Amino acid sequence: MADHKKMALALAILCFLCGNAFLPSSASSDSFLQCLSTVIPSNLVFTQSSSSFTSVLQSSVQNPKFITNTTVRPLCIITASDVSHVQSAVRCGRANGVRLRVRSGGHDYEGLSYRSVQPEVFAVVDLARLRGVQLNPGEASAWVDAGTTLGELYYAIGTTNPGFLFPGGACATVGVSGFISGGGIGIMMRKYGVGGDNVLDAKIVNANGDLLDRAAMGEDVFWAIRGGGGESFGVVVAWRLKLSPVPPTVTVVNTLRTLDQGAVDLVAKWESTILSPLNVPDLTIRVVVQNTVAIFQTLYLGRCTDLLNTLRNVFPELGMTAADCNELTWLRAMAFVYFGNTNTPVEGLLNRTNNVGDHYFKATSDYVRRAVGSAGWSSLYQQWLSKNNNGQMILEPHGGAVGGANTNTTSPYPHRRGVLFNIQYGSNWCCDANGTMAAAGLAWLKGIYGFMEPFVTSNPREAFANYRDLDLGQNVIGKDGLSSYWSGRVWAERYFMGNYRRLAAAKAMADPTDYFRNEQSIPPLPK
Ligand SMILES: Cc1cc2nc3c(=O)[nH]c(=O)nc-3n(C[C@H](O)[C@H](O)[C@H](O)COP(=O)(O)OP(=O)(O)OC[C@H]3O[C@@H](n4cnc5c(N)ncnc54)[C@H](O)[C@@H]3O)c2cc1C
Ligand SMILES: *[C@@H]1O[C@H](CO)[C@@H](O)[C@H](O)[C@H]1NC(C)=O
Ligand SMILES: *[C@@H]1O[C@H](CO)[C@@H](O)[C@H](O)[C@H]1NC(C)=O
Ligand SMILES: *[C@@H]1O[C@H](CO)[C@@H](O)[C@H](O)[C@H]1NC(C)=O
Ligand SMILES: *[C@@H]1O[C@H](CO)[C@@H](O)[C@H](O)[C@H]1NC(C)=O
Repeated sequence: MADHKKMALALAILCFLCGNAFLPSSASSDSFLQCLSTVIPSNLVFTQSSSSFTSVLQSSVQNPKFITNTTVRPLCIITASDVSHVQSAVRCGRANGVRLRVRSGGHDYEGLSYRSVQPEVFAVVDLARLRGVQLNPGEASAWVDAGTTLGELYYAIGTTNPGFLFPGGACATVGVSGFISGGGIGIMMRKYGVGGDNVLDAKIVNANGDLLDRAAMGEDVFWAIRGGGGESFGVVVAWRLKLSPVPPTVTVVNTLRTLDQGAVDLVAKWESTILSPLNVPDLTIRVVVQNTVAIFQTLYLGRCTDLLNTLRNVFPELGMTAADCNELTWLRAMAFVYFGNTNTPVEGLLNRTNNVGDHYFKATSDYVRRAVGSAGWSSLYQQWLSKNNNGQMILEPHGGAVGGANTNTTSPYPHRRGVLFNIQYGSNWCCDANGTMAAAGLAWLKGIYGFMEPFVTSNPREAFANYRDLDLGQNVIGKDGLSSYWSGRVWAERYFMGNYRRLAAAKAMADPTDYFRNEQSIPPLPK
């Protein structure tokens, strides 16, 4: 055998061994479960043989695409009800070579909080039982346990501490932890910044099972956990969030316009006002474009008359009138944004039950820094949107507090100065995970994403970490057994741009052995 062939064979064997070094044998799975049984009450641990395993696994799954017979499922689910359970799970996992996936709200677009893409033995630490909000009336901060949803947080603030808000997202069942871990964008960020900008302290369990607060984890890691992606740096068990003032009455309006009613020109006018002249942080107009309509979702942190005065100057074409306005408390406005009506009681925001049903979906994202223009929107409607009842684009305006980068205080979210809006493309279908309907839904998404290329950012084509898309790239495990920093650039520079390297440096500090990882976690910066 020629020397180079021998070398290749030797390397292949070496890689085979190191690649498998972490795949535990059934013996270490057994000893992992054995270890758990000595430190965590058995009614909190669900193994695959448990009759409740499937229902616990599916309890917060958002996308039935990941409820199939071929989905790689966890060895067990640990439904931690105390921080010490999280610490124990990490210690047992580390000692026995079993990795953990952390789940808070379960909304991950690729299901990475409860499934693995590659066959691998892993356990899920589910934090849904670890939820609660500690706040005091009049105080501009709150400690929030990691398993809390945005809806639960809004309800706690609105009922106990009215006059304050947290700038979260529209969907009440999204977990606070995943939301902040990926940056967190929403209709209050133009006033107060993204979710990650509004964190004052946090408690994480690191890869040794130690519980660290901000002072103990250090500023680099504290910066990284506020938007550098979930799973990468440890398990966040609680956040101390900054709350901000909100007037007693805010105004919400949904305005639907069809193509016949001039939707194309309205969207074009809207995009040209975001950074000027409509850079009014109290006002946010988010737009959903789908099929042959545009829906303008307005939140104004004030009264209807002031909203109408503002719009009269800069966006009269929208044609909003006083009759369209819903003047509500902030909490009721959040319920309106989520449910789309003023009838559903605010207690509905506490409902964690998913209506997964037949809602198969895939999403991806873009950022726009230069207006698309009427001609672009017109072709987009003609060629793509009008051809699919089950596809949409959600346009989230930037500017305001999220647009100005005060690099001292801001978190890793990098899509700031100069960004007009984020696009989320979503494609839904019924009812298969991997059949004809799925193929059609995915083909549409790919087509519209391709169509938009000339209109969006490039080098990198920016993408939003919270709208996770594994098609943008996945980690490669190097010969050293660590996720490769260089291969990670492919996807990570799109999510994090110039902040990727700093995140990788924080990862090397927080978790140098890369215990916490998934297909798109931050790799440690090589020494
Ligand atoms: C219907 C819907 C609406 C959405 N709307 C918005 C929106 O308006 N704005 C926005 O920014 N995003 C939005 N998202 C995206 C959402 O923010 C992300 O999917 C987010 O990651 C979900 O958080 P989660 O806790 O529910 O998810 P999970 O699936 O539990 O977790 C997501 C990721 O974070 C990790 N993780 C979870 N908890 C922890 C923890 N405690 N410590 C460390 N890592 C953890 C997980 O391992 C996983 O990698 C939406 C998603 C859906 C499905
Ligand atoms: C999945 O498994 C269930 C139960 O084991 C079986 O009834 C079903 O036919 C399987 N589905 C597919 C698509 O293989
Ligand atoms: C909670 O939400 C689910 C899914 O949308 C719904 O089926 C259920 O009726 C809701 N429960 C309550 C009490 O409102
Ligand atoms: C911002 O950073 C600079 C340089 O590190 C420092 O001098 C300044 O005090 C910081 N400002 C705030 C508000 O933290
Ligand atoms: C989906 O189907 C394709 C071929 O049709 C196959 O290559 C792929 O492995 C399937 N994926 C899953 C998750 O079953």
